[in-house]
Formats: sequence, C-alpha cells, structure tokens
Amino acid sequence: MSANGAITHVCETSGCNSEAKLQCPTCIKLGIQGSFFCSQSCFKGSWDSHKLLHKKTKTPWLTQQLDNYLQYFPGYSIVQRAVTQFKNISGASDSNSSQYNPWPYYMFTGSLRPYPQSNKREVPPPIGRPDYADDPNGFPHSEQKLRGSTNIKCLSDEEIEGMRVACKLAREVLDEGVKAAGIGVTTDEVDRIVHEAAVERECYPSPLNYHGFPKSCCTSINEVICHGIPDMRPLQNGDICNIDVTVYHRNFHGDLNETLFIGEVNSIARNLVKTTWECLQKSIEIVKPGVKYRDVGAVIQKHAHSQGFSVVRSYCGHGIHQLFHTAPSVPHYTKNKAVGIMKPGHTFTIEPMISEGTWKDEQWPDNWTAVTADGKLSAQFEETLLVTETGVEILTQRRERNGQPYFTD
Ligand code: MF3
Ligand code: CO
Ligand code: CO
Repeated sequence: MSANGAITHVCETSGCNSEAKLQCPTCIKLGIQGSFFCSQSCFKGSWDSHKLLHKKTKTPWLTQQLDNYLQYFPGYSIVQRAVTQFKNISGASDSNSSQYNPWPYYMFTGSLRPYPQSNKREVPPPIGRPDYADDPNGFPHSEQKLRGSTNIKCLSDEEIEGMRVACKLAREVLDEGVKAAGIGVTTDEVDRIVHEAAVERECYPSPLNYHGFPKSCCTSINEVICHGIPDMRPLQNGDICNIDVTVYHRNFHGDLNETLFIGEVNSIARNLVKTTWECLQKSIEIVKPGVKYRDVGAVIQKHAHSQGFSVVRSYCGHGIHQLFHTAPSVPHYTKNKAVGIMKPGHTFTIEPMISEGTWKDEQWPDNWTAVTADGKLSAQFEETLLVTETGVEILTQRRERNGQPYFTD
C-alpha cells in the first residue's frame, strides 16, 4: 500500500518491474483482479499470453460472483436459483440439459430437467372411456357440472362393488409399473408398461388426456411433488420416483401412488419417504363415520413436522367414483376449512405430499409438473378409501407382503 492508501501494482509483463496503473478493459468486465500494466506498449506486448487469462477465467468468475452475491443476500432465492441453474449447465446432474431445453428463460428450482416425450398412446375402442378422453381440450364435462358443489355422494352397494374392482385393477397396474422401474429405465418406459397393463385389464388409463395430460400415469422424481410427465429421462441411482396410477374400469376410477427408491438412496430421502408413508397410514387410521374431513390434515402435519418435514398445500385428496376428482376436497395440512363429514359409502383419496424443505410449490412451464420452490425432495403416497359402517376399507390396498410399501421390498 502507498502513502495515500491506494494499492500499488507491478506490471504484469515478465521482467518489467515498473509500477502499473493501467488495467486491461476485458479484465475489468470479467472481474479478473490483479492484472495491471505500466504502459500501452507493455499491454500490447503481453497481449498474446494475457488474453488466455480471459478464456480461462470466464466460467469460474461468473459462478464465483453469483456465490459472492449470495453471501450478501442469503435469503434471495432467485440468486440461489441462478447459481443452481448456471452450475447445472455444465451437465453435472442431467447431461441432456444442453441438448434439450424447451424453456430457455425458465429458472429451474432444482437439478431435474425435462426430456423429450414419446408420441401419444392409444386405447383400443372396446374399452370404455371417460368423457374427457375424446374432448379436444380434455375437458371433464361431467366433473365440471358439479364444480363448487360440496355435496358428497354415498355410493350404493352395486357402485361400491364397481369401485372395489376398479381399485383392485389399479393396484395390479401399479404393481406392473413398479416392477418395470429401475436404474437406466426411462419414465416413458414405465408409462408404456402402465398403459399396456391397463389396456390388458379392460381399463382406460385415467390421466390420458385429462385436462390434456399427455401420458397414462404420472412419474414424479426427486423435487417433483406430483404430476410429473413421463419422458425419455433414464432413472438414476439415488433418485426417488413416485408412480401415480389411476384407471377407469366400467365407469369407476381407482387412484393410488407410491414412491420408490431407485438403487441406493441417501438417508434423508429414505427418512422422507418412510415418513410420508407413515403420514398416510396414520391418517387412514382415523377414517370412520362421523369424522370431519378437515381433521385428516392435522394427523399428517403433526407427523411430518415431528420429522422436520413440511406439508404441500396446493394439492389435496379428493372424492372419486364415476368422476376422477370431485367432492370432498381433503387437505393434508392442519387448520384447513374442508367441508364434510365421513359417512358410510363415501369414496375418496388421501395422498399426502411431504417435502424435505419448504412446503411451497411451483409449476414448470409445461403447466403440469409441480416442483418444490427450493428444489429439495418431495415424496407422496396415495390410496383410494371407502368409509364403511365401522371404519375404513382401503380399496387400493396392496395384498402382497402384508400391505407393506414397495420401498421396503
Ligand atoms: N392421479 C392424480 C391424483 O392423485 C391425478 C393425476 S391427473 C393428471 O389425483 F392429469 F395429472 F394425470
Ligand atoms: Co388422487
Ligand atoms: Co393419483
């Protein structure tokens, strides 16, 4: 340091030890520190070797600047995202990201990326189809007629039998999808297996064209909360992957999902998935006539919070029978305002989505894929339930392995 407090530099040209005050303009732009010259001629003379510094420094500099920026604005999540985004461009997590990026201006919350999708699959005509299957926008007109109604249908014995059959078939179809999943298998391949397993059982795969959904099931990986679209991404060791299957068989829908471990999964992911399954089990235990639908959420949130996890608020359980989604709406969080009291003959789902970090969600620009706002993991389990005279019947229950979830197999 000189007497007046200014930092002094020595010329970068080798052998020239003069005091240097000129800074290369490119270095200033790139934020390269400590590169000075004593004169224009020294600068020009060193140019050929000096310019290599610019090339070398470009990428790390930007990363570093973003990291520094973060230190001053630790809560500024958009900066955090920019860092994640930038670091991932090199392909650390998903090597396809440079090849295929349908939304160049979207800032992803985590490291998962979309991959190309296969063509639409068909369901042969003899299989009964829901109304939205052939609507150009996938609009479920029968559901829409009851929109906003809080009236909960009590099913007749015959209708209950219809639900038992549809839900048993839905479980069989999920079994097939689960068997297919594994390291290196694409979620599109899982979707193909699910689609064919449904068709073989005289089922229409309910997600197909529902509000325009392009595939036959949902596959939700890592930070995806729900409604992930099957695509050409191969499942990776360490992923958690939810497969959500709904089938429509002879006028009734059956809906269930489970989260799987792909290969070796870390302990946070294992605890999250186990806790989510327990949340569903504990909430099913309280189901019986007279219980308020709004009381389901407290059981789920209490257990999730006890393990340091959060409860997703944007997506709820739902009534299900001849309609895919109808009254009641069943929130998974506490202090909700859900309408309705359980009665024998009601059929509905509970499907808690539990997240490692924030409960907040957002959607990819495909208008389907729901992801955690912080890019951390989220898990889900779902069953379709029937309220009986004395309690509950789990219509989509796994009959193998004493009803234990697949992730413990
Ligand atoms: N199966 C999901 C649920 O549990 C709904 C999927 S709708 C779709 O409610 F269109 F995304 F497939
Ligand atoms: Co559901
Ligand atoms: Co579902």
